[in-house]
Amino acid sequence: MKRPLLQLALDELSLDHAFEVLSTGVDEVVDIIECGTVLIGSEGRKVVQIMRDRYPDKKLVADFKIADSGKVMAGMLLDGRPDYLTVICAANQKTMKAVVQEIKDRGLNTEVQMELYGNWTFEEVEIWKQIGIHQVVLHHSVDEPSGWSQREIEVVKKLCDHDIQVTVTGGINYDSIELFKGLPIFCIIAGRSIRTAEDPVTEAKRIKDRIIEIWGKD
Ligand code: 5RP
Repeated sequence: MKRPLLQLALDELSLDHAFEVLSTGVDEVVDIIECGTVLIGSEGRKVVQIMRDRYPDKKLVADFKIADSGKVMAGMLLDGRPDYLTVICAANQKTMKAVVQEIKDRGLNTEVQMELYGNWTFEEVEIWKQIGIHQVVLHHSVDEPSGWSQREIEVVKKLCDHDIQVTVTGGINYDSIELFKGLPIFCIIAGRSIRTAEDPVTEAKRIKDRIIEIWGKD
């Protein structure tokens, strides 16, 4: 089983703060850098472009959880050529199709990730695959202070049986990585547990080493 990738969620309010975190060496430790919803909301679409200019070869996520106006919203973010772009599961399927089409029209290989919040069904997962979306991100809300419940872990397990790449996020830290042991998780996203650590690079390494310890190197 391939080890999950480690993604850093940059939900800083300013690019300066985001670069402060990255320049500690965290940028070299994590597999993927996420231009977070908070950062894009605060600093605008330029975030993805600036991050791409700074990291031409790094995997980048533009996480703006597109809900509507698929072509225009995707277009704004695709200027920065992210590897991944997020859409929220509540969006109309026509919005999802518009995002996928905009990527095709621009000749990009950007993949769409479906952000799972609130109500969605496993039947929809199958429809999203037909639309061309092959990744889901299961969220444990940042506003939910309690940890991941057994019920949420069961949902992760069921998603993993649906032949779709599964990413998990929300309140994940060194200790909670173990909850996903034995599951073919595509990516683990950590934001606050790395960014707010006293020594972010050491914490990022510790989390990555824990992933390798559980899943192996590859
Ligand atoms: C919220 C997000 C966050 O970036 C993601 O969930 C990371 O959260 P945390 O800081 O708890 O690790 O997408 O919209």
